[in-house]
Amino acid sequence: MPVRLTDLSLAVLETQYAVRGPIVARAAELEKAGRRILYGNIGNPQALGQKPLTYIRQTLALCEYPALLEGGALLDSPAAIFPPDVVQAARTLLKGTVHGLGAYSESKGVKVIREAVARFISQRDGVESDPDWIFLGDGASKSVQMALRVLISGPTDGIMVPIPQYPLYSATITLYGGRQVPYYLDEDRDWRLSREHLDKAFMDAVRKGVKVKAICVLNPGNPTGSVLDHENIRMIIDFARSHDLSILTDEVYQEDVYLTDFAFYSFAKVMAEMGVADVSLFSFHSTSKGFIGECGHRGGYMEIRNVPGEVVDQITKLQSISLCSNLPGQVVTYCMVTPPAEGSPSHDLYVAERDHIMSELRSRAAILADGLNGIPGIRCTRIAGAMYAFPRVELPAHRTDDDYCLSLLESTGICVVPGSGFGQMPGTHHFRTTILPETALIHEFVEKLGEFQGQYK
Ligand SMILES: Cc1ncc(COP(=O)(O)O)c(C=O)c1O
Repeated sequence: MPVRLTDLSLAVLETQYAVRGPIVARAAELEKAGRRILYGNIGNPQALGQKPLTYIRQTLALCEYPALLEGGALLDSPAAIFPPDVVQAARTLLKGTVHGLGAYSESKGVKVIREAVARFISQRDGVESDPDWIFLGDGASKSVQMALRVLISGPTDGIMVPIPQYPLYSATITLYGGRQVPYYLDEDRDWRLSREHLDKAFMDAVRKGVKVKAICVLNPGNPTGSVLDHENIRMIIDFARSHDLSILTDEVYQEDVYLTDFAFYSFAKVMAEMGVADVSLFSFHSTSKGFIGECGHRGGYMEIRNVPGEVVDQITKLQSISLCSNLPGQVVTYCMVTPPAEGSPSHDLYVAERDHIMSELRSRAAILADGLNGIPGIRCTRIAGAMYAFPRVELPAHRTDDDYCLSLLESTGICVVPGSGFGQMPGTHHFRTTILPETALIHEFVEKLGEFQGQYK
């Protein structure tokens, strides 16, 4: 007899992931039937036209097919296509992997790549970083799941998550049988965290018998587009310390900061400045976002700090169950943390490609936020960073944001995700859309949305 739904665990059945939920499935059906769909539901840059960086693809090509390095398996002069610094990067990587990309690596990832990540963190933050604190993963998602797996030991273990949040967190906590402890972000203050909301969320959970283990922070935020300031990060570290919590900080959008009065600060940096050495920190970065946008290559890393050696051994054991993360993703991670040096042959092209992507994203973020704020009944906070807008919508009393997004899809072909998939303050309604479609499509999006909003009842 085939497997039945009733054979599955309750945890699997209860797990939800709205970013690829029923509205997206309906959009795919409509598209199959010939409708033109404007996809705004997912932060998948290259699916929406972003070009891969030449330096990354050239390095990958040489690593995948080292015969090209030998000069002439296929080409008379590979150097004519592959600049010397790319050839050098590929040689370093291939030497580091020992057996090439077709062999498993060490479970934590190739040592040369972890060393490069540690150098990147030290240079970015002016703090010490150790390759042994770094775990390369198949995207940030797998590393986040691993950290949550380690921290959740039973049904009364609680993990604090922002509301709204990226549903990787809620879904994984449900899957691993833990308890979500939601804390609200303050929409009226650019989605900052407040100590008052954190303390309230913590105390409410404790009163219900929950043992709160960790707090997750997304900075820059998805879906909010917020970027936390230095003071807010200090407050969160202080809060975690006073309640003996670990911190999981999702920093996958660290390159995506668009407004000049905002800057990205890593938790590792702020924690070092505060001299805090007794709060465990799990930080995540990814090759999927920013100007890299290599979602399909599944690269990224987790850096841990203030984690005792015996716990590090358990994390390493967990990672070794999957043997290692994929090697092309590890190569892309190396390229992300080791861009071409100034004066090297690939440098100028790299900078030109990077700056073009960033200036497009910056201008689309502004156009989208302004356009949304020009529609009566819709209000959007500044898009300071990340790749999304999370506007608030006024709806007739009998309507939900699920109804709204479905109706928007059916009547205009616009596909966005209802706010309920991320969580929101009761009584408010939102949707999330990305800033990724090209500028003409963003204008079209705003225009169609404005018409729809005007007649929605
Ligand atoms: C906040 C956040 N964290 C993690 C991820 C997953 O990234 P990755 O592709 O590295 O698994 C995403 C993807 O959209 C995200 O928005």
